[in-house]
Order: sequence, then C-alpha cells, then structure tokens
Amino acid sequence: MRWRRASQKPADGPAPAAPSSLGERELAELVRRQPVPPHIAIIMDGNGRWATQRGYPRIAGHHEGVKTARAIVKAADAVGVRYLTLYAFSTENWNRPEDEVSMLMSLLERTVQSELPDLMEQNVRLRVIGRIHGVPSGVRRGIDRVVEGTRNNTGLQLQMAFNYGGRDELLDAFRRLAVDVREGRLDPAEISEKDVSGALYTADIPDPDLLIRTSGEMRISNFLLWQIAYTELWITPALWPDFDARTLYRAILEFQSRTRRFGGV
Ligand code: FPP
Repeated sequence: MRWRRASQKPADGPAPAAPSSLGERELAELVRRQPVPPHIAIIMDGNGRWATQRGYPRIAGHHEGVKTARAIVKAADAVGVRYLTLYAFSTENWNRPEDEVSMLMSLLERTVQSELPDLMEQNVRLRVIGRIHGVPSGVRRGIDRVVEGTRNNTGLQLQMAFNYGGRDELLDAFRRLAVDVREGRLDPAEISEKDVSGALYTADIPDPDLLIRTSGEMRISNFLLWQIAYTELWITPALWPDFDARTLYRAILEFQSRTRRFGGV
C-alpha cells in the first residue's frame, strides 16, 4: 500500500500548506516529491455561472471550460497522474434548454476532434464512459474516431464521462451480471465486489483516489457512485473556467497530507 494508513503514524506530521505565492512549476515540483494519486476524477462545475456573472451567454462559459480542461490534462500529465476522469455530460444534462444541449454536444465533439493531434503528441489515450450509444450518431462517430486513434497511446488515460449517470452505470452492470447468472456463468451466491467492478464502464481502471469538484457544491451528482467508496473529496469554490494547474496541484498536495483509513482506524 503506497498511501499512509492511520496506523502508520506520519514521521513528521502533515505537510505544511504550500505558500500561496508559489507558481505552477514550484507547486509541480512539490507534488512530485510524494506519491501522486494515480487516478483523479473531476466534476467540472460552474461554466454557466462564470458566463452569467460576466453577462455572457452560458455557452461562452463552456468554451472557457474547454480551455481549462485542456490545461488540466497537461498539468495532470506533467506530474504523473495516470488516469483522469472528467464529467463532461451527465444523463441529467439532457434536461437543459435544447439550444444549450445541442451547442454543448457539438462543442464537445469539435473539441475532442480538434484535440487529436495534441493527444497524440502527448501520448494520451481517450476513452468514453457512459451510454455513448445514446448520443446523436454524428457526435458519436466523431468521438469514436478519436478513441480509436488514441487507442495505442500509453501515457495518461483520459476518461470523458459522456451521457454518463452513476445509477445507469450500475443498472447496466447488474443487467450484465443477471445475464451471466441466467446463462449459468455466475452463481448469485458468489457475486463479489470484483464481479460488480468488472461489469462497470470503468472495468479495467482503478477507482479514483481523489475527486475534485469545482463551484463549491457539496454533492456527488450521480458520478462514479460505486467507484468513489473510499475516494478523498476536495471541493473548491472556484468556478471551472477559473480552475487552473496551480489549484490542481494544491488539491494534490492536500491529498498527499491526508491519512486514508479505508474503513480502518
Ligand atoms: C458545468 O457547468 C459543465 C458542464 C455541464 C459540462 C461541460 C464541460 C465542458 C464544456 C468543459 C470541457 C470538457 C471537456 C471534456 C472537453 P454548468 O453549466 O453546470 O455550470 P453552472 O452550474 O454554473 O450552471
């Protein structure tokens, strides 16, 4: 176990907070001195408020949000994060006004497509988690191309949660397991956590170590419900377009100073 458990007393207490004057490079250096969480998941929230506060249409906030996402992929990669999962579009987001939904869809598709050269250069592999078959076919085809094109990249693995809902993911998993039971491959009495994890969209991805949420809301919003059982939470009032590499590194530094108990004492 790489992480400090409660029974292992830290030799010199929790790390002191990094001075607020430190820049991105210095913070990255501090982060690299301790084990970096292999998997970070982010609920990117606050694009709409960011735009409204400035008198812009909400879609302008999403455009800024794309710039932040690009910067955060680079920043996470720079300190050795292995998996980054971004909540891009939830199953509940279909309830937004029609024009916002269609603009968001085309923005996400265009963004993913135009990022292909950079993703290749950074050796990033893109995957999608969610009911991808439930999105318009043009959008799906565009995203599939990038998923396919980056399939053999071996660097950071970027999961875009798209048309994603945590309860839907569990329902899909239970349906798969039920088929296995019906066809005699699985004994109901033997169903294990490993079976459930293996039937999720994230089957071959470790659970997130750290979940970040922007814009200060204290909720999980149907994100990775099974996978975050022991994930550390870090919530910032910053709106997503204002989130940056320095804020990411501060979240990781705080994570590194915590003691993870995994239900123990
Ligand atoms: C939250 O803001 C953001 C979203 C609904 C998702 C869209 C995210 C982006 C466009 C960022 C880029 C992501 C990728 C993967 C390229 P909100 O509209 O919920 O804000 P509000 O709570 O202030 O209304």
